Amino acid sequence: MVQLTLPKNSTIRTGKTWPKPEGATNLRKVQIYRWNPDDGENPRVDTYFVDMDTCGPMVLDALIKIKNEIDPTLTFRRSCREGICGSCAMNIDGINTLACIYGLDEIKGDIKIYPLPHMPVIKDLIPDLTHFYAQHASIMPWLETKTNRPQKEWRQSIEDRKKLDGLYECVMCASCSTSCPSYWWNGDRYLGPAALLHAYRWIIDSRDEATGQRLDELEDPFKLYRCHTIMNCAKTCPKGLNPAKAIAEIKKMMVERIV
Ligand code: SF4
Ligand code: FES
Repeated sequence: MVQLTLPKNSTIRTGKTWPKPEGATNLRKVQIYRWNPDDGENPRVDTYFVDMDTCGPMVLDALIKIKNEIDPTLTFRRSCREGICGSCAMNIDGINTLACIYGLDEIKGDIKIYPLPHMPVIKDLIPDLTHFYAQHASIMPWLETKTNRPQKEWRQSIEDRKKLDGLYECVMCASCSTSCPSYWWNGDRYLGPAALLHAYRWIIDSRDEATGQRLDELEDPFKLYRCHTIMNCAKTCPKGLNPAKAIAEIKKMMVERIV
C-alpha cells in the first residue's frame, strides 16, 4: 500500500461535521480534505455522512452525492466516470487511485479522501498538475519521423504493435508519480514514472525514427536515474501498468548502446 503523505498545504485542522441525512439508517462516514485558497484559512478535514441506500457503488458516486445533496462547495475533478480520462485521481484510504473505479466496499471503516500527495493544491481535492504535464510534453509524446509520409498511414506489424501493450493504456492520472518518494524529493528534475513510461512507449514504437534523440534527452543524472526501483508506481497504478519496468527497459537500452 502506498503511504499517505500530506499535500503541500501545511497543517490540517479538524473541520466541520455535517448533519446526518434525516431518516437514513445505512450511513457511512466520509472524511474529506478541504482547502480554499480564497478564505485565508489552513486546510481542514470535513466529515460527511452518506446514505448508502441511495448512493452508487464507487467513491466518485459518494463525492457527487455529497456535492449534490450536502455541500455544493466541495471541489474535485471528474469527467468520464469509467477510468479513461484520468481526471478523478486522488488519495483514497491511503492509496492513490481513480475515484470512479474504486469501490466503496473496498474500504473498511471510515472513508478518508485527500488530494494526490506532495503536489500543490489548487482547491480541495484538485492538485496543480502544470509541472506534471510539462514533463510529459518534454518527452515528445508523438510519432517523430524523418522519411516521407506514406500515402495512407504508418504501418506497423502485429508483433510490433503488441510491444505497446501495457504502455498505451496510461491515462496520465499522476497516481504513480505522486506515490514515488524519489519524485517527491526531486520532482523538479526527475521526470517521474508517468513521463518515463510515455518516453519508453515512443522509444519502442517501431514507426518512430527519433530513438537516438529520445535516449540522448534522457541521459541525465536526474531525469531518468533518480528512479531507485521503489515500485510504489506499479503498486498504485489503477490501470495495472508497470512504469518501473518501462524505466528499467530504458536504462537497459542506455547500457546496450554504450557497450
Ligand atoms: S502509469 Fe498508471 S498511475 Fe501512472 S499516470 Fe499512467 S495510468 Fe496513472
Ligand atoms: S472520471 Fe475519468 S478516470 Fe475517473
